[in-house]
Amino acid sequence: MHVPQKVLTNADLEKMVETTDEWIQSRTGIRERRVAEVGTTTSDLAYEAAVEALQQAKLAAKDVELLIVATTTPDMLFPSTSCLVQQRLGATGAVGFDVSAACSGSVFAMITAQQYLLTGRYRNALVIGAEVLSSFIDWTDRSTCVLFGDGAGACVMQPVSRGGILATDMGSDGSAAEMLYMPGGGSKYPPSHSSVDQRLHFLRMNGTEVFKVAVRRMAESAKRVMADAKLTPEHVECFIPHQANTRIIEAVAKFADLPIEKVYMNLQRYGNTSAASNLIALYEAVRDGVIKRDDHVVMVAFGAGLTWGSLLLQW
Ligand code: UT7
Repeated sequence: MHVPQKVLTNADLEKMVETTDEWIQSRTGIRERRVAEVGTTTSDLAYEAAVEALQQAKLAAKDVELLIVATTTPDMLFPSTSCLVQQRLGATGAVGFDVSAACSGSVFAMITAQQYLLTGRYRNALVIGAEVLSSFIDWTDRSTCVLFGDGAGACVMQPVSRGGILATDMGSDGSAAEMLYMPGGGSKYPPSHSSVDQRLHFLRMNGTEVFKVAVRRMAESAKRVMADAKLTPEHVECFIPHQANTRIIEAVAKFADLPIEKVYMNLQRYGNTSAASNLIALYEAVRDGVIKRDDHVVMVAFGAGLTWGSLLLQW
């Protein structure tokens, strides 16, 4: 994983918008988040996380065959961020493309890579979730600017003879697209003086509605992968939910009967890093010994689209 050095605390935000540390902590659980310096791009963070993942997996960049970057905040609309990361890594033998599934991105990208590994088409996949959300946040909108942060997580995926991904689930519902979206910059509202004046190039969200759907969809999805793998929450050692909000996570745990002490959370330190969130959480849970060899882990995500997904893996 890689996060920018710069820490933006709730106290810092109190000086920028009308909010309080007490409101942010009690409504979201977030204490601080990382924010990239101006000029730092999503591919910069993705590259750093990828280098560490390749080192840990003892895999040379030239041997990567599939390189997927999940991001909502690509360096540019095109080319894909994965092509930019490919170039920096020297992963000349890989095919790269991006996955656009907002906060569900890392789970969607891992499931996508798994499919290629299962068919035998590729044997070495590098999956990255990376975001510089701070570039797309309206720093005058207190209802969104307190929630998000920048960062990247990465993993190498290869065929395994035991364990690995045992069950997956993905879903989407475009009827709720405008619950969480950034209207400007695409073919609908190309950049113009008017689009900038209307602040169309910033993230917009109906937080309360997103909250409700997120709880229901994530709880259903987590239950589905456990049922598919014929496991119950007692068999699962660690749940890695999308790190958006402690209240969302607690409600998901309640509705899916997941013991809260098995639910990993690090959003206090990073906020919602969207497509990077599940992979950063997985990285820290493994690093800190929360996840051990053979443990069953459920990763569950939810994001704009709306999208949701889960995977159950044996580490
Ligand atoms: O990856 C998925 C991405 N989306 C999310 O993670 C967001 C999901 N939604 C949420 O996390 C929650 O809906 C929020 C944290 C955004 C808001 O919590 P809430 O329980 O839905 O809202 P609330 O009823 O507690 O608070 C709303 C009030 C409003 O004031 P009025 O209209 O009730 O007077 C807001 O203006 O809180 C006000 N408010 C704030 N007050 C202080 C909104 N943002 C802030 C703020 N500081 N930063």
